[in-house]
Amino acid sequence: MAKSKWIYKCKSCGFESSKWLGKCSACQAWNSFEEQQKVKTSVSKGSQKNSDLIPLTLVNEQKENRIQFVDDEFNEVLGGGLVPGSLILLGGEPGVGKSTLMLQNLLQSPWTSIYVTGEESPNQVRQRAQRLHKQLNKNVMLLNTTDLEQILDVLKNNNHPLVVVDSIQTLYSNRIDSAPGSLNQIRFCSQELMQLAKKTNKCIFLIGHITKDGQLAGPKILEHLVDVVLYFEGNRNHDYRMVRAVKNRFGSAMALGIYQMTHKGLIPLQDSSQLTLTKRNENHPGLARSVSIEGIRPLMVEIQALVGNAVYGTSQRNTNGFDMRRLNMLIAVLEKKCDLQLGNKDIFLNITGGLKLEDPTVDLAVIAALLSSFYEIALPHTSIFIGEVGLTGEIRGSNKINLRKEEAIKNGAEHIFLPPSPNGKQNQQYLEFENIPKLMEHLFG
Ligand code: TYD
Ligand code: MG
Repeated sequence: MAKSKWIYKCKSCGFESSKWLGKCSACQAWNSFEEQQKVKTSVSKGSQKNSDLIPLTLVNEQKENRIQFVDDEFNEVLGGGLVPGSLILLGGEPGVGKSTLMLQNLLQSPWTSIYVTGEESPNQVRQRAQRLHKQLNKNVMLLNTTDLEQILDVLKNNNHPLVVVDSIQTLYSNRIDSAPGSLNQIRFCSQELMQLAKKTNKCIFLIGHITKDGQLAGPKILEHLVDVVLYFEGNRNHDYRMVRAVKNRFGSAMALGIYQMTHKGLIPLQDSSQLTLTKRNENHPGLARSVSIEGIRPLMVEIQALVGNAVYGTSQRNTNGFDMRRLNMLIAVLEKKCDLQLGNKDIFLNITGGLKLEDPTVDLAVIAALLSSFYEIALPHTSIFIGEVGLTGEIRGSNKINLRKEEAIKNGAEHIFLPPSPNGKQNQQYLEFENIPKLMEHLFG
């Protein structure tokens, strides 16, 4: 009997079944099964001869000639440029600036490229390009289609080394029987483009719309397939954008690039303190600075705290960019270890620039900001607080402390408050404290 060429796969967990199911027996999701073509995998018996094996030491070392963009921030995120023949996923929320980032990089590049535009008309792309780069670059070719077969055909018949597909969700192959944007189409089109990239040594960027709540999560299934995964993040209320490498077969997966979105496109922000610090040289009660590590990059951050008497019966607590539970823990430490009465206070905490911090090393700055607001005494903006705080009120060491110190000094730090180091020597610049009560005594007497 001929075997069925189709299988059914659960969209949410990937469970496969030979017949359609209303409810997935693995993850219990309803209505999640999609029809998919079975992929034949032929295993030829006896093909594994010993002669196929190569000792690792004898594999020819190939020198990588990376393709560099003019934008160094982007090169850094890519781990030092593009390795020929790689497939890169650039994901991010709709409107964050993915098309802008790719187009401006192609426009500046001396390498010839093809921009496959499935979402916008060539005229829209031209208008955007003119805005970004007044002198249009002849090296950029547009291909206005969503038809995968046409794209493959064009790519096979030219030698432009760079390709951007905007976006992977719009592509459609008539070899797959489902709608554009469906998981089957996304997966199939990406696999075909992957093979083409490897065969022709082209670098292909796939732009994919992804939302945090997972509504548009399709391109996430490509993470294991592609060589590099970049996520483009931003905050609707701020004009900075961050490109983060979360996977890179050819470089560090922790790299981070920071840009500012302007009317002329994205501008790399070499000096990130422009974005993260409020006006320099001003001291206000409730402000304290620290150095957080985002990916592999140190970032100056500013914590703003407001501690006031609760006007309504119950006190309010609110945070922006910092974990609420962690704030409550730090407040509890202050109450218990420093005898501070905070139960009847409204407490608000904000991270400047709309950043979201998960690095516990900023704890000490949070404590300093809370104390500064509580006592209405401003801390000098040249004081930087680095350290994690434990439940007993002890100040603990953190990773990459030297990198943090260097960044602080680069930004004009005069006093750096730190946890005790094994061979620490107190001096004017580095002030080490064992616990919060001792630090409080030093700062506010
Ligand atoms: P876009 O690159 O189209 O986003 P995506 O491809 O991720 O959907 O960027 C869209 C936003 O960027 C849009 O709100 C307008 C803004 N923008 C600027 O502020 N300056 C510019 O120079 C450009 C081209 C876009
Ligand atoms: Mg776009």
